[in-house]
Amino acid sequence: MTHQALTAEGELPGKPTSASRTTLSHIMTGSDTNLYGTVHGGVIMKLADDAAGAVAGRHSAGPAVTASMDEMVFLEPVRVGDLVHVKAQVNWTGRTSMEVGVRVLAERWNESTPASQVGSAYLVFAAIDEEGKPRPVPPVIPENDQDRRRYQEAQIRRTHRLARRRAIRDLRASRTAAS
Ligand SMILES: CC(C)(COP(=O)(O)OP(=O)(O)OC[C@H]1O[C@@H](n2cnc3c(N)ncnc32)[C@H](O)[C@@H]1OP(=O)(O)O)[C@@H](O)C(=O)NCCC(=O)NCCS
Repeated sequence: MTHQALTAEGELPGKPTSASRTTLSHIMTGSDTNLYGTVHGGVIMKLADDAAGAVAGRHSAGPAVTASMDEMVFLEPVRVGDLVHVKAQVNWTGRTSMEVGVRVLAERWNESTPASQVGSAYLVFAAIDEEGKPRPVPPVIPENDQDRRRYQEAQIRRTHRLARRRAIRDLRASRTAAS
């Protein structure tokens, strides 16, 4: 784990979004297909998790694990021979967690037509220490208007994730108490 100097207030210094933004590219082959002959959604999900994991590790300067993956959207089928680009960046940071946004683009590997967006996802990563316990992450510093919009939207998703978790936990507790 990289040692990170603290600010005078004892906080981790902020890191700009661009410091960890990453693109992972991969050509789809016959081993990536589902029973219908197009690329298996799970292959794209793994690439999204890999790219987001690299971003989370870079931003937090150490190990980070996937806590959740949501709103995975597949807009278009991906085909064998597509060159897939998975673009990931930290959208938002909490105390020990980060939301990473992922955009999936595809283009034919041997044609010069522009890549089109085929999917997207949001993943929450928790930075962990040597014992697997959550550790603080540097606050992300959005650098432009798009980054600021993504930060604000991530806060909305965070609020909904926590509310949903709490509501389900409360419902289960009340059902257990009643039985
Ligand atoms: C993720 C993990 C470290 C969280 O540990 P925990 O003891 O529950 O710790 P906390 O409740 O303090 O959560 C840590 C942070 O993650 C966030 N978090 C945890 N679970 C979450 C979820 N399901 N959705 C969104 N955020 C989540 C918390 O809000 C907290 O963020 P914050 O500090 O920025 O407020 C732990 O559950 C874990 O190790 N899970 C397995 C991860 C893994 O192996 N992933 C790969 C799967 S193969």
